[in-house]
Amino acid sequence: MSKDPVRVLVTGAAGQIGYAIVPMVARGVMLGPDQPVILHMLDIEPAAEALKGVQMELLDAAFPLLKGVVATTDVAEACKGVKVAVMVGGFPRKEGMERKDVMSRNVSIYKAQASALEKNAAQGCKVVVVANPANTNALILKEFAPSIPPDNITCLTRLDHNRALGQIAGRVKAQVSDVKNVIIWGNHSSTQYPDVNHATVRTSCNGEDRSVRELVADDPWLNGDFIATVQQRGAAIIKARKLSSALSAASSACDHIRDWVLGTPKGTWVSMGVYSDGSYGVPAGLIYSFPVTCDNGKWSIVQGLRIDDFSREKMDATAKELSEEKALAYSCLN
Ligand SMILES: NC(=O)c1ccc[n+]([C@@H]2O[C@H](COP(=O)([O-])OP(=O)(O)OC[C@H]3O[C@@H](n4cnc5c(N)ncnc54)[C@H](O)[C@@H]3O)[C@@H](O)[C@H]2O)c1
Repeated sequence: MSKDPVRVLVTGAAGQIGYAIVPMVARGVMLGPDQPVILHMLDIEPAAEALKGVQMELLDAAFPLLKGVVATTDVAEACKGVKVAVMVGGFPRKEGMERKDVMSRNVSIYKAQASALEKNAAQGCKVVVVANPANTNALILKEFAPSIPPDNITCLTRLDHNRALGQIAGRVKAQVSDVKNVIIWGNHSSTQYPDVNHATVRTSCNGEDRSVRELVADDPWLNGDFIATVQQRGAAIIKARKLSSALSAASSACDHIRDWVLGTPKGTWVSMGVYSDGSYGVPAGLIYSFPVTCDNGKWSIVQGLRIDDFSREKMDATAKELSEEKALAYSCLN
């Protein structure tokens, strides 16, 4: 018997990431090839015509799994009955704008959307915030949707995680699918800490997992250029494309939800921005990217990893930035 369709919300659906992600969701990339979906697409009034165009294209693409489309500028209608919410819509930083002004615009968007989700989403709705500042937008969403369990509100750092896998695969000339257990700690910003201390590569000679540090055998690169490349990758894409990353962001958001709902493979962890419980000395009450495994629709932070002094310093620096962002966001509420 075929499954009941799942309602998936994409906000900012007329934008770049929206345009890349809706066909992925409709093809089963996010929830699996046997899971029918109903897409809910939200955008703001100035993008209403463009949103209509995306709706037309979804119809034209005749996706067998797509059982319906709701395209709207009404946030309550968009949130009605959704089980998964991918929050891509937000206010971008424009030239000459102060950080506080951008934060203030996003705080008011995420405060309003939190209430709409709380009132209208299906029970157990899983939320991933993509729009920047992703961690802090997710935190505001959590604060203003108190009836949604904090564990259900996350932010996307899987793109950074995937970028780290790609850089290591390139360096050791392995397939990206053979590299695992990198970690992105902290903020989805240039202070994030991409950590390879526990990462491994499956080697082609005997299929054994070998440590990335041992295979790369170049600590100055791993502690220097590698980290900077992952941290600055977003800026490098903008420089090359004159637009920010969209297909990789969309694909990573699908990876994030798929692993959360369907589980991470045994022995593999992924990075997700989640509500800190104080693990690894990260202040509780921040949305911070940790290594997590997922099972039965729940994530848990991987515990017991050894943290050296180099890592400690970088993990604390990104936590400090997040605490400052949190304070700035709260100051916008007054
Ligand atoms: N976390 C990550 O890894 C990651 C990666 C890439 C981009 N991003 C962020 O994702 C966001 C979207 O990027 P994009 O390239 O698609 O931008 P975009 O400007 O192309 O699209 C954003 C869309 O959001 C809409 N929007 C604005 N306010 C809204 C609101 N209140 N409700 C609903 N929709 C609203 C806009 O009309 C627009 O269509 C940006 O904030 C970007 O910085 C995050």
